[in-house]
Amino acid sequence: MEVAYIVFILSFNIKYAYSATDTSVYLLNDGHKIPTVALGTSLGHLSDLWNDAHDIDEVIPALKKSLDDLKMDYVDLYLMHYPMAYSKNGSVKNTDYIETWKGLELAKGQNLARSIGVSNFNITQMKRLWENSTVKPAVLQIEVNPSITQVELVDWCKEHGVVVMAYSPFGGILGRKKDAPPPHADDPTLVGLAKKYNKTVPQILLRYLLDRQLVAIPRSTNKDRIKENIDIMNFSLTPDEVENLSKFNSDYRLRTPVKWYSHPEFPFEKKNLSDAEIKYIIEHSKED
Ligand SMILES: NC(=O)c1ccc[n+]([C@@H]2O[C@H](COP(=O)([O-])OP(=O)(O)OC[C@H]3O[C@@H](n4cnc5c(N)ncnc54)[C@H](OP(=O)(O)O)[C@@H]3O)[C@@H](O)[C@H]2O)c1
Repeated sequence: MEVAYIVFILSFNIKYAYSATDTSVYLLNDGHKIPTVALGTSLGHLSDLWNDAHDIDEVIPALKKSLDDLKMDYVDLYLMHYPMAYSKNGSVKNTDYIETWKGLELAKGQNLARSIGVSNFNITQMKRLWENSTVKPAVLQIEVNPSITQVELVDWCKEHGVVVMAYSPFGGILGRKKDAPPPHADDPTLVGLAKKYNKTVPQILLRYLLDRQLVAIPRSTNKDRIKENIDIMNFSLTPDEVENLSKFNSDYRLRTPVKWYSHPEFPFEKKNLSDAEIKYIIEHSKED
Protein backbone atom coordinates (compact mmCIF):
# COMPACT_ATOMS: atom_id res chain seq x y z
CA MET A 1 0.00 0.00 0.00
CA GLU A 2 1.25 3.45 -0.87
CA VAL A 3 1.60 5.75 2.10
CA ALA A 4 2.57 9.37 2.18
CA TYR A 5 3.66 9.71 5.75
CA ILE A 6 3.53 7.61 8.80
CA VAL A 7 2.17 9.62 11.64
CA PHE A 8 2.38 8.41 15.17
CA ILE A 9 0.91 9.32 18.46
CA LEU A 10 1.92 9.66 22.05
CA SER A 11 -0.22 9.96 25.08
CA PHE A 12 0.84 10.87 28.55
CA ASN A 13 -1.39 9.17 31.06
CA ILE A 14 0.02 11.06 33.98
CA LYS A 15 -1.07 14.64 34.35
CA TYR A 16 1.51 16.99 35.80
CA ALA A 17 1.36 20.27 37.62
CA TYR A 18 3.82 22.68 36.05
CA SER A 19 5.93 25.13 37.97
CA ALA A 20 9.08 26.99 36.99
CA THR A 21 11.15 24.82 39.33
CA ASP A 22 9.53 21.51 38.42
CA THR A 23 12.02 19.53 36.33
CA SER A 24 9.57 16.70 35.61
CA VAL A 25 7.77 18.68 32.88
CA TYR A 26 8.43 21.27 30.20
CA LEU A 27 5.95 23.81 28.97
CA LEU A 28 5.20 23.53 25.23
CA ASN A 29 4.72 26.51 22.93
CA ASP A 30 0.98 25.77 22.76
CA GLY A 31 0.51 25.97 26.55
CA HIS A 32 0.40 22.22 27.19
CA LYS A 33 2.94 20.33 29.30
CA ILE A 34 5.15 17.39 28.46
CA PRO A 35 7.02 15.03 30.80
CA THR A 36 10.79 15.39 30.61
CA VAL A 37 11.25 11.63 30.61
CA ALA A 38 8.84 9.06 29.25
CA LEU A 39 8.79 5.39 28.28
CA GLY A 40 9.71 4.71 24.65
CA THR A 41 7.16 2.19 23.50
CA SER A 42 7.97 1.64 19.85
CA LEU A 43 9.68 -1.65 19.17
CA GLY A 44 9.97 -0.97 15.47
CA HIS A 45 8.01 -0.31 12.35
CA LEU A 46 5.13 -2.57 13.33
CA SER A 47 4.12 -0.59 16.38
CA ASP A 48 0.38 -0.32 16.93
CA LEU A 49 0.86 3.34 17.81
CA TRP A 50 1.64 4.23 14.20
CA ASN A 51 -0.93 4.93 11.55
CA ASP A 52 -0.62 5.57 7.85
CA ALA A 53 -1.85 8.94 6.68
CA HIS A 54 -1.75 9.95 3.03
CA ASP A 55 -2.76 13.47 2.10
CA ILE A 56 -4.20 16.28 4.23
CA ASP A 57 -7.75 14.86 4.26
CA GLU A 58 -6.53 11.43 5.30
CA VAL A 59 -4.91 12.49 8.56
CA ILE A 60 -8.13 12.89 10.54
CA PRO A 61 -9.67 9.51 9.56
CA ALA A 62 -6.35 7.77 10.33
CA LEU A 63 -6.14 9.44 13.73
CA LYS A 64 -9.80 8.72 14.50
CA LYS A 65 -9.24 5.05 13.75
CA SER A 66 -6.28 4.96 16.14
CA LEU A 67 -8.30 6.74 18.80
CA ASP A 68 -11.11 4.20 18.36
CA ASP A 69 -8.59 1.35 18.70
CA LEU A 70 -7.14 2.96 21.81
CA LYS A 71 -10.59 3.86 23.20
CA MET A 72 -9.46 7.44 23.70
CA ASP A 73 -11.02 10.77 22.78
CA TYR A 74 -7.75 12.55 22.02
CA VAL A 75 -4.00 12.14 22.17
CA ASP A 76 -1.60 14.45 23.92
CA LEU A 77 0.90 14.56 21.06
CA TYR A 78 0.62 13.64 17.40
CA LEU A 79 3.82 13.51 15.36
CA MET A 80 4.54 13.36 11.65
CA HIS A 81 7.24 10.73 11.48
CA TYR A 82 9.36 11.85 8.50
CA PRO A 83 9.34 14.82 6.10
CA MET A 84 9.23 12.45 3.13
CA ALA A 85 6.55 10.33 1.58
CA TYR A 86 7.30 6.66 1.30
CA SER A 87 5.64 3.31 0.98
CA LYS A 88 6.12 0.20 3.03
CA ASN A 89 7.96 -1.49 0.15
CA GLY A 90 10.56 1.29 0.17
CA SER A 91 9.38 3.24 -2.89
CA VAL A 92 9.01 6.97 -2.51
CA LYS A 93 6.72 9.73 -3.73
CA ASN A 94 6.67 13.48 -3.53
CA THR A 95 3.72 14.54 -1.40
CA ASP A 96 4.76 17.76 0.30
CA TYR A 97 5.06 17.51 4.08
CA ILE A 98 3.51 20.99 4.31
CA GLU A 99 0.27 19.43 3.05
CA THR A 100 0.37 16.64 5.61
CA TRP A 101 1.10 19.21 8.32
CA LYS A 102 -2.18 20.95 7.43
CA GLY A 103 -3.90 17.67 8.32
CA LEU A 104 -2.20 17.72 11.72
CA GLU A 105 -3.33 21.32 12.20
CA LEU A 106 -6.91 20.22 11.51
CA ALA A 107 -6.52 17.37 14.04
CA LYS A 108 -5.44 19.86 16.67
CA GLY A 109 -8.29 22.21 15.72
CA GLN A 110 -10.75 19.39 16.28
CA ASN A 111 -9.21 18.58 19.70
CA LEU A 112 -8.20 15.11 18.54
CA ALA A 113 -4.60 15.98 19.37
CA ARG A 114 -3.65 18.49 22.04
CA SER A 115 -0.21 19.13 20.61
CA ILE A 116 1.32 18.40 17.21
CA GLY A 117 4.90 18.00 16.13
CA VAL A 118 7.31 16.31 13.76
CA SER A 119 10.10 13.78 13.82
CA ASN A 120 13.27 13.35 11.79
CA PHE A 121 13.09 16.79 10.19
CA ASN A 122 16.39 18.53 9.52
CA ILE A 123 16.99 22.24 10.08
CA THR A 124 16.10 23.27 6.51
CA GLN A 125 12.84 21.37 6.73
CA MET A 126 12.07 22.83 10.17
CA LYS A 127 12.60 26.35 8.84
CA ARG A 128 10.35 25.72 5.85
CA LEU A 129 7.66 24.18 8.02
CA TRP A 130 7.92 27.12 10.40
CA GLU A 131 7.41 29.61 7.57
CA ASN A 132 4.53 27.69 6.02
CA SER A 133 2.40 26.71 9.00
CA THR A 134 -0.38 28.29 10.97
CA VAL A 135 0.15 26.12 14.04
CA LYS A 136 3.86 25.84 14.81
CA PRO A 137 5.27 22.41 15.75
CA ALA A 138 5.44 22.02 19.52
CA VAL A 139 7.91 19.12 19.45
CA LEU A 140 10.69 17.78 17.23
CA GLN A 141 11.64 14.15 17.90
CA ILE A 142 15.17 13.28 16.74
CA GLU A 143 18.02 10.99 17.74
CA VAL A 144 20.16 12.65 20.42
CA ASN A 145 22.80 11.16 22.72
CA PRO A 146 26.50 11.97 23.27
CA SER A 147 27.38 10.31 19.94
CA ILE A 148 24.99 12.57 18.03
CA THR A 149 24.47 15.83 19.87
CA GLN A 150 22.54 17.73 17.14
CA VAL A 151 23.69 21.06 18.57
CA GLU A 152 22.65 23.26 15.63
CA LEU A 153 19.17 21.77 15.34
CA VAL A 154 18.61 21.78 19.10
CA ASP A 155 19.71 25.42 19.30
CA TRP A 156 17.34 26.38 16.49
CA CYS A 157 14.49 24.61 18.29
CA LYS A 158 15.32 26.36 21.56
CA GLU A 159 15.30 29.74 19.82
CA HIS A 160 11.88 28.97 18.38
CA GLY A 161 10.35 27.39 21.46
CA VAL A 162 10.17 23.86 20.03
CA VAL A 163 10.81 21.13 22.60
CA VAL A 164 13.24 18.50 21.34
CA MET A 165 12.43 14.90 22.25
CA ALA A 166 15.51 12.68 22.14
CA TYR A 167 14.93 9.20 20.78
CA SER A 168 17.49 6.38 21.05
CA PRO A 169 18.86 8.13 24.16
CA PHE A 170 21.46 5.39 24.67
CA GLY A 171 22.57 5.35 21.01
CA GLY A 172 25.12 2.59 20.50
CA ILE A 173 26.75 3.37 23.84
CA LEU A 174 25.38 0.44 25.86
CA GLY A 175 26.63 -2.09 23.28
CA ARG A 176 23.72 -2.27 20.89
CA LYS A 177 25.94 -1.87 17.82
CA LYS A 178 29.37 -3.46 17.55
CA ASP A 179 30.72 -0.75 15.26
CA ALA A 180 29.55 2.16 17.44
CA PRO A 181 32.23 4.81 18.08
CA PRO A 182 33.15 5.92 21.63
CA PRO A 183 31.91 6.43 24.20
CA HIS A 184 31.05 2.93 25.34
CA ALA A 185 29.46 1.99 28.66
CA ASP A 186 32.87 1.46 30.31
CA ASP A 187 34.20 4.87 29.26
CA PRO A 188 36.05 6.47 32.23
CA THR A 189 34.14 9.76 31.86
CA LEU A 190 30.77 8.03 32.06
CA VAL A 191 31.85 5.65 34.80
CA GLY A 192 33.36 8.56 36.77
CA LEU A 193 30.12 10.54 36.61
CA ALA A 194 28.12 7.46 37.61
CA LYS A 195 30.37 7.04 40.67
CA LYS A 196 30.25 10.73 41.54
CA TYR A 197 26.45 10.84 41.56
CA ASN A 198 25.89 7.26 42.77
CA LYS A 199 23.95 6.54 39.60
CA THR A 200 24.31 4.13 36.69
CA VAL A 201 25.79 4.96 33.30
CA PRO A 202 22.34 4.77 31.62
CA GLN A 203 21.05 7.26 34.21
CA ILE A 204 23.95 9.60 33.42
CA LEU A 205 23.07 9.38 29.72
CA LEU A 206 19.45 10.27 30.43
CA ARG A 207 20.35 13.08 32.77
CA TYR A 208 22.66 14.46 30.06
CA LEU A 209 19.56 14.95 27.91
CA LEU A 210 17.48 16.56 30.66
CA ASP A 211 20.33 18.91 31.51
CA ARG A 212 20.24 20.04 27.88
CA GLN A 213 16.48 20.68 28.37
CA LEU A 214 15.50 17.78 26.11
CA VAL A 215 12.84 15.12 26.65
CA ALA A 216 14.29 11.59 26.95
CA ILE A 217 12.26 8.56 25.84
CA PRO A 218 14.24 5.47 26.88
CA ARG A 219 12.72 2.15 25.89
CA SER A 220 12.92 -0.89 28.13
CA THR A 221 10.91 -4.06 28.52
CA ASN A 222 12.44 -4.71 31.93
CA LYS A 223 10.61 -3.46 35.02
CA ASP A 224 13.75 -2.70 37.02
CA ARG A 225 15.36 -0.82 34.15
CA ILE A 226 12.16 1.17 33.56
CA LYS A 227 12.29 2.23 37.23
CA GLU A 228 16.00 3.02 36.92
CA ASN A 229 15.38 5.16 33.84
CA ILE A 230 12.96 7.49 35.61
CA ASP A 231 14.97 7.69 38.82
CA ILE A 232 16.94 10.67 37.56
CA MET A 233 15.17 13.62 39.14
CA ASN A 234 17.30 13.88 42.29
CA PHE A 235 20.58 14.96 40.69
CA SER A 236 21.88 16.99 37.77
CA LEU A 237 25.11 17.32 35.81
CA THR A 238 27.07 20.55 35.84
CA PRO A 239 27.26 22.58 32.60
CA ASP A 240 30.92 21.52 32.26
CA GLU A 241 29.99 17.86 32.60
CA VAL A 242 27.30 18.26 29.95
CA GLU A 243 29.79 19.98 27.67
CA ASN A 244 32.37 17.24 28.25
CA LEU A 245 29.88 14.55 27.27
CA SER A 246 28.94 16.56 24.17
CA LYS A 247 32.60 16.40 23.10
CA PHE A 248 32.02 12.73 22.21
CA ASN A 249 29.91 13.86 19.29
CA SER A 250 30.73 12.08 16.04
CA ASP A 251 27.31 12.54 14.37
CA TYR A 252 26.92 8.76 14.59
CA ARG A 253 23.36 7.64 13.89
CA LEU A 254 21.98 4.29 14.92
CA ARG A 255 19.91 4.17 11.77
CA THR A 256 20.10 5.79 8.37
CA PRO A 257 17.17 4.36 6.43
CA VAL A 258 18.88 3.74 3.10
CA LYS A 259 15.70 2.62 1.42
CA TRP A 260 14.64 6.27 1.24
CA TYR A 261 17.99 7.68 0.06
CA SER A 262 16.52 8.61 -3.32
CA HIS A 263 13.78 10.79 -1.81
CA PRO A 264 14.46 14.50 -2.40
CA GLU A 265 13.49 15.26 1.21
CA PHE A 266 15.71 12.54 2.77
CA PRO A 267 16.57 14.42 5.97
CA PHE A 268 19.94 12.98 6.98
CA GLU A 269 23.45 12.95 5.60
CA LYS A 270 23.99 9.97 3.32
CA LYS A 271 26.70 7.38 3.63
CA ASN A 272 28.80 6.89 0.54
CA LEU A 273 27.17 3.66 -0.61
CA SER A 274 26.96 2.27 -4.12
CA ASP A 275 23.59 1.40 -5.64
CA ALA A 276 24.51 -2.27 -5.24
CA GLU A 277 25.24 -1.80 -1.52
CA ILE A 278 21.95 0.05 -1.00
CA LYS A 279 20.10 -2.74 -2.83
CA TYR A 280 21.84 -5.36 -0.71
CA ILE A 281 21.00 -3.58 2.55
CA ILE A 282 17.36 -3.15 1.55
CA GLU A 283 17.07 -6.79 0.47
CA HIS A 284 18.59 -7.97 3.71
CA SER A 285 16.42 -5.58 5.76
CA LYS A 286 19.41 -3.92 7.34
CA GLU A 287 19.21 -0.20 7.78
CA ASP A 288 22.87 0.59 8.28
N1 LIG B 1 11.14 8.86 15.53
C1 LIG B 1 11.92 7.86 15.21
O1 LIG B 1 12.31 7.66 14.04
C2 LIG B 1 12.40 6.92 16.29
C3 LIG B 1 13.45 6.03 16.00
C4 LIG B 1 13.89 5.21 17.02
C5 LIG B 1 13.31 5.24 18.26
N2 LIG B 1 12.26 6.09 18.50
C6 LIG B 1 11.61 6.12 19.84
O2 LIG B 1 12.60 6.19 20.86
C7 LIG B 1 12.42 5.15 21.80
C8 LIG B 1 13.76 4.74 22.37
O3 LIG B 1 14.76 4.56 21.38
P1 LIG B 1 15.35 3.14 21.02
O4 LIG B 1 14.27 2.15 21.13
O5 LIG B 1 16.07 3.25 19.71
O6 LIG B 1 16.47 2.85 22.05
P2 LIG B 1 17.01 3.23 23.52
O7 LIG B 1 15.89 3.62 24.42
O8 LIG B 1 18.16 4.14 23.35
O9 LIG B 1 17.61 1.83 23.96
C9 LIG B 1 16.81 0.72 24.18
C10 LIG B 1 17.72 -0.46 24.54
O10 LIG B 1 18.41 -0.15 25.75
C11 LIG B 1 18.15 -1.13 26.75
N3 LIG B 1 18.00 -0.45 28.01
C12 LIG B 1 17.00 0.40 28.39
N4 LIG B 1 17.23 0.88 29.61
C13 LIG B 1 18.38 0.33 30.05
C14 LIG B 1 19.14 0.45 31.24
N5 LIG B 1 18.74 1.22 32.25
N6 LIG B 1 20.28 -0.28 31.35
C15 LIG B 1 20.71 -1.06 30.33
N7 LIG B 1 20.02 -1.21 29.16
C16 LIG B 1 18.88 -0.51 29.03
C17 LIG B 1 16.89 -1.83 26.29
O11 LIG B 1 16.91 -3.19 26.69
P3 LIG B 1 15.83 -3.82 27.74
O12 LIG B 1 14.48 -3.68 27.09
O13 LIG B 1 16.26 -5.22 27.89
O14 LIG B 1 15.94 -3.01 29.01
C18 LIG B 1 16.96 -1.72 24.78
O15 LIG B 1 17.75 -2.76 24.25
C19 LIG B 1 11.69 4.07 21.00
O16 LIG B 1 10.96 3.18 21.83
C20 LIG B 1 10.79 4.90 20.13
O17 LIG B 1 9.61 5.26 20.86
C21 LIG B 1 11.82 6.95 17.54
